[in-house]
Amino acid sequence: MEQTRLEDLVFKPSEEFVAQANIKKEMYDEANSDYIAWWAKQAAELVTFFKPYKQVLDDSNPPFYRWFTGGTFNVSYNCLDRHYNSDKRNKAALCYESEVGKKVIMTYRELYVEVNKFASALKKLGVKKGDRVNMYMPMIPEQAVAMLACARIGAIHSIVFGGFSADSLADRINDATAKWLITADGNWRKGAAFNLKANADAALEKTTTVEKVIVVKNTGQDGINMVEGRDVWYHDIMAGADKYCPCEEMEADAPLFLLYTSGSTGKPKGIQHSTAGYLTYTCSTLKYVFDLKETDVFWCTADIGWITGHSYVIYAPLALGMTTFMYDGTIDYPDKDRMWDMAERWGVTVFYTAPTAIRTYMKWGSSYPDKHDLSQLRILGTVGEPINPEAWMWYYKTIGKERCQIMDTWWQTETGGFMCTPTPVVPLKPGTATIPFPGVFVDVIDDNRQPTNRGYLVVKKPWPGMLMTIYGDNDRYKATYWGKFGDIYLAGDSAIKDEMGYIWVIGRIDDVLNVSGHRLGTAEIESALVECQEVAEAAVIGKKHDVKGEAPVAFVILKDGYSGSPELIDKLKKHVGVKIGPIARPDSILFTGALPKTRSGKIMRRLLKDIAEGRAIGDVTTLADPGAMQDIAGKYGKDED
Ligand code: WT7
Repeated sequence: MEQTRLEDLVFKPSEEFVAQANIKKEMYDEANSDYIAWWAKQAAELVTFFKPYKQVLDDSNPPFYRWFTGGTFNVSYNCLDRHYNSDKRNKAALCYESEVGKKVIMTYRELYVEVNKFASALKKLGVKKGDRVNMYMPMIPEQAVAMLACARIGAIHSIVFGGFSADSLADRINDATAKWLITADGNWRKGAAFNLKANADAALEKTTTVEKVIVVKNTGQDGINMVEGRDVWYHDIMAGADKYCPCEEMEADAPLFLLYTSGSTGKPKGIQHSTAGYLTYTCSTLKYVFDLKETDVFWCTADIGWITGHSYVIYAPLALGMTTFMYDGTIDYPDKDRMWDMAERWGVTVFYTAPTAIRTYMKWGSSYPDKHDLSQLRILGTVGEPINPEAWMWYYKTIGKERCQIMDTWWQTETGGFMCTPTPVVPLKPGTATIPFPGVFVDVIDDNRQPTNRGYLVVKKPWPGMLMTIYGDNDRYKATYWGKFGDIYLAGDSAIKDEMGYIWVIGRIDDVLNVSGHRLGTAEIESALVECQEVAEAAVIGKKHDVKGEAPVAFVILKDGYSGSPELIDKLKKHVGVKIGPIARPDSILFTGALPKTRSGKIMRRLLKDIAEGRAIGDVTTLADPGAMQDIAGKYGKDED
């Protein structure tokens, strides 16, 4: 008899679990038969407007869809003031632990006070509605305070992940023309203090817009360079700050933040999100997918520098009045059970992480989680890339003890929140994000817009969490997401739809890598490589990797007069790390005399991927120089490092 494949197993939620869930099965039909009414109902139940909106969805100027137009709104009001004025006032809003063991618990009242003060301080520094404020910070409570303070006064934050390089930060500051940067002295990395401020300073040398820098004292390390007249300490400006700062009444579709993400060109895109639509969407998805209840402690392990952190560490949990936990540090410090130790100590009930982390824990073995009592966990989640069924099963058995449903949530920076995801009423299969969330029309279609079982992953109708545009580049917004199908959103992934209607995401269709759940454009890494004087041309692909999902591999043609050496490989890798950030460093670099190109000059990365992953080389008939492939294939595995 043939053995059942893991991905064919079906796990039905228990009746008790379904019965206690926030979501009811009928909601799918209700939402899908009238999605406008469904989203109106979500907004009515979950968020508070100042002035009521006139129209749920304004689709008069596609693809610039606008939600809840005519209404006025403030995200900070929704996350704080509502709870400050309710019996949630003394509930833990934000719990935090640092790598070196510092703990903070902020109640809704305390968070409200801090945010008000910081919002007043920002205003005093000249920040006004519509201004862009950049942040480059560790995962500390001050980051949450800064975001909510910006939202309060209507300033648009643009957060750059602390692991990005000075150059990446500079590019993003310049694109957003931000006059303010909020950063910190440093952050902890495996017990040592890393000087983040030095990186920020290096970035500021390449920007002309920043006038003021606010620095949080986090590590308290010595040797922090403070520039007279430009840099101020967070605690200094907080000391004299007004204790109340009124909420700016924002248009429902005013921008809340920009978040840069990689696309298929070298220039990252500033994804612009709205206020009312975004908050309604993230609240609704969090409430129904992770089934949050008053007593839950929700831990989303994502860094705030990514969309997952924006939506599900900060905005949605706080707007729902939940307790959100954040950890700033390495997952194996001081030992490999750090995460489980914290989950136990903080009484985490819902845990949401990424496949790359799950695979790492799996490699370390079950003895680490087994040391801890994880019986308080109710629900588990995963996001960032397709999860392989083996890792899914390990997570389900070892962490969830076969009690907890696993929510495999497919979504993107652009979508604001979960799109394709199980909820407590949906049977699971290991490795699939299952079905679209109620009122969300995700589908798989072919070039002729017809439903198919393998094709483009698309969204057929607007949804409230959708991006509004790419900052400063409406044309790129139109071309990237709506250029192919007009009125259908192209996600950039390919997917399979199985006989149960479940969606299995295969991977990107564009030149974008997914390294440990982080998006990187091949073009970005290639352009970093060709900056090196030795390099004439470079092609980067993603090679399957058992922990990272994909690892960047570079094929490099050197200029005449240079020859490949281990030192040069090292130098090139380092340069990419410095230029973009450590996550972008190629795992291996291969020097070659030629790259496979079509006659029109496009690099055929698919063929390079075949070589890197040890497959027989695919069809080379369209190549300008078929011999190029033999050259590379012969070398691969020999000289590569
Ligand atoms: C891309 C979006 C959304 C927050 C994290 C990443 C891939 C994301 C899944 C999943 C399969 C997934 C897709 C998507 N992806 N979640 N559950 N299953 N693939 O956000 O950096 O905007 O990347 O990540 O390829 O397009 P992002």
